[in-house]
Amino acid sequence: MSQQVQGVIAPGKNEPVRVETIVIPDPGPGEAVVKVQACGVCHTDLHYKQGGINDDFPFLLGHEAAGVVESVGPDVTDVAPGDFVILNWRAVCGRCRSCLRGRPWYCFDTHNARQKMTLTDGTELSPALGIGAFAEKTLVAAGQCTKVDPAVAPSVAGLLGCGVMAGIGAAINTGEVGRGDTVAVIGCGGVGDAAIVGARLAGAARIIAVDIDDRKLQTAKTMGATHTVNSRATDPVEAIRELTGGFGADVVIEAVGRPETYQQAFYARDLAGTVVLVGVPTPEMKLELPLLDVFGRGGSLKSSWYGDCLPSRDFPMLIDLHQQGRIDLGAFVTETIGLGDVEKAFARMHEGDVLRSVVQF
Ligand code: APR
Ligand code: ZN
Ligand code: ZN
Repeated sequence: MSQQVQGVIAPGKNEPVRVETIVIPDPGPGEAVVKVQACGVCHTDLHYKQGGINDDFPFLLGHEAAGVVESVGPDVTDVAPGDFVILNWRAVCGRCRSCLRGRPWYCFDTHNARQKMTLTDGTELSPALGIGAFAEKTLVAAGQCTKVDPAVAPSVAGLLGCGVMAGIGAAINTGEVGRGDTVAVIGCGGVGDAAIVGARLAGAARIIAVDIDDRKLQTAKTMGATHTVNSRATDPVEAIRELTGGFGADVVIEAVGRPETYQQAFYARDLAGTVVLVGVPTPEMKLELPLLDVFGRGGSLKSSWYGDCLPSRDFPMLIDLHQQGRIDLGAFVTETIGLGDVEKAFARMHEGDVLRSVVQF
């Protein structure tokens, strides 16, 4: 027996999104239906709507979500109805070379729900990042669900499903920030701010926030930045060197995704320091570096994919730290909105004063 719920779909390239009735099949083997309680609005949802990811319209948008498992299919043992869960982009195999190395985001054999959610006329929907959670309920692979402490606000928990985990993980997992380190974060949107929270959690002594917008730098300070640099006014590489006695930062985290900021990140680190790349470039972008600088500086240049997180380890840990007041994930929630307000939330993203709008059910 399928059921019908309301969800936000992107019907075609650059067309406004709208609320539609969608049909959710009963969960099959390895699947779960989740009653969504909150789902953040992320840039990637906007990119789906704009056709920047692929052309498999119509999309069921939304992918930073938390909710309660309503029902599970045969063979599902890891989660059960009533569990409070955070959703992640895909279930991993647990057996391939990448999974066995503890790097599930590079898994060779990932999957989402095998059945499709549809419109009432039978049109199949493509769920954004394999989730589709701007909907009262959604169908996912059971392996996309991670149980966490149900005492936390769903609007906060859902954020770990994407941008906030990407940022915190860039600092603690990919960058391996250590006690006493100096960390520079270039680009202080939601992802960069989360990297600041991660750096602080890891014990960084100094955290230098770089952005072109003074309002973003203000927020970065509230997240834990100890120094700020407006890179419109000041050369950030020079500024970071000056703040570090000429040496550069131990770890530089790039959270913009542009050639000039990749370049700044490369030169702002200490000799043998680490550069972590979280900002996603477009296909045509190129980075040019003198090979002697690449060779001569040592250290490492690492990209960070979903914060190199292990959901089963990192989601519950970060929720616990939030519940204990040691990090404040609530600071990322600028506003809570209804299902009908997603288009307005996309417009507000460009105004620059929103970290996250979260759809609450
Ligand atoms: N130098 C420094 N900061 C910049 C520059 C620049 N040249 N250009 C833009 N910024 C700042 C913006 O002012 C903003 O504060 O970068 C920040 C980007 O933030 P958001 O647009 O909110 O993006 P966010 O969600 O944080 O994601 C950042 O990480 O995961 C990726 O796909 C994501 O590439 C994106 C990046
Ligand atoms: Zn996202
Ligand atoms: Zn695998």
